[in-house]
Amino acid sequence: MAESPGVQRGLEDVIALESRICFIDGDRGRLLYQGYDIRDLAAHSTFEEVAYLLWYGRLPTATQLADLRRRFGALRTLPTPLIDRIQSIPTESTPMDVLRTGVSELALFEPDETKPGSGSIGGAQRLTAALPTIIGTFHRRRAGLPPIRARPDLSQAAYLAYALLDREPTELETKVIDVALVLHADHELNASTFAARVTASTLSDLYSAVTSAVGTLKGPLHGGANERVLELLDEIGTPELVETVIKAKLSRHERIMGFGHRVYKVEDPRATILREWSRKIGESKGNLRYFEMLRKVEEVVHREKGLYPNVDLYSGSVYTLLGIPPDLFTPIFAASRVAGWTAHVLEEYEDLRLIRPTSKYLGATDLSYVPLAARGG
Ligand code: COA
Repeated sequence: MAESPGVQRGLEDVIALESRICFIDGDRGRLLYQGYDIRDLAAHSTFEEVAYLLWYGRLPTATQLADLRRRFGALRTLPTPLIDRIQSIPTESTPMDVLRTGVSELALFEPDETKPGSGSIGGAQRLTAALPTIIGTFHRRRAGLPPIRARPDLSQAAYLAYALLDREPTELETKVIDVALVLHADHELNASTFAARVTASTLSDLYSAVTSAVGTLKGPLHGGANERVLELLDEIGTPELVETVIKAKLSRHERIMGFGHRVYKVEDPRATILREWSRKIGESKGNLRYFEMLRKVEEVVHREKGLYPNVDLYSGSVYTLLGIPPDLFTPIFAASRVAGWTAHVLEEYEDLRLIRPTSKYLGATDLSYVPLAARGG
């Protein structure tokens, strides 16, 4: 549809609100959480530290970090009726649908945390702790694995890996999941975070906001892209065919998942970090096929379209080499982004203004009502 004057389709470049949580410099490829560079956080911190940073605006002390770890461990267990409910969902369901249902249903058991306001920090921690359990409970049932145990001894990254793989992850596997969780934890006003803030801006509760966000993340133009990257690699088959297949797709004006970004005009810094991890994990598993194919895809897409990779290009290759099925990639994204969604909802409650833009009306204005009997058919 042609753009009318004054209409910013997709709200591109519209500054909708003020926030202290996340900064993206799209021209220089920089990403900051509460002022800290993502490259430092990915190299030196953990998901728990980053969640604390996003919620409280400062890095935790050792005691505060240990407290948060303990809380996550204690909050992982789901209410029994919710576990029973997840066990009764058809096994062929999409994990993102299960996650959306699980988040929404968990709210029914947390009446104190469904009142909007600063007390929602408890809900933020509960949801962040519970998401891996919701995903893991469903996945393990459909995979015929034994029920999940809360494992309070494990970090969030190790717990997520244990929940999905049913084995103790190695140090390297835990580290790469932790890095992925750090990298995905927030990204300014991306579509799902905006959806969460819109919901919170009506003075609705945190669980409703996160339910909106999960539904928004599910779409292939947002969180679903990493799953599609793996489908693309499987379709291409071998590195030799990359050039032909990608060129054919571009000539049909198809989008290549894992490329392009609304804000970054250069390489997404998260892609730079994950590329290196994709290589490391490939080497450790003795399988560099995905890494080599993705490098070739990058070369062709950049040459033909001038597009740079985004965070979704390499994450799927890492998860696949760990043995995680593709339909769990977006739920893993959600298990991380929940920290950012909830930080934004808390910020919204602090300085709330109903988010309600307007639209340019293109319809008719002078129709006369026709009674049903006179409409034919
Ligand atoms: N593959 C091929 N072409 C792409 C592309 C991609 N991944 N991303 C953008 N383009 C092209 C568009 O076709 C368009 O070309 P045109 O001007 O010749 O029509 C141009 O680049 C601008 O695209 P537009 O859709 O207006 O940009 P946007 O800011 O709305 O898009 C995305 C941002 C993320 C939706 C888009 O880049 C995309 O669809 N990427 C693939 C999905 C993905 O990886 N999502 C994860 C994001 S983290």
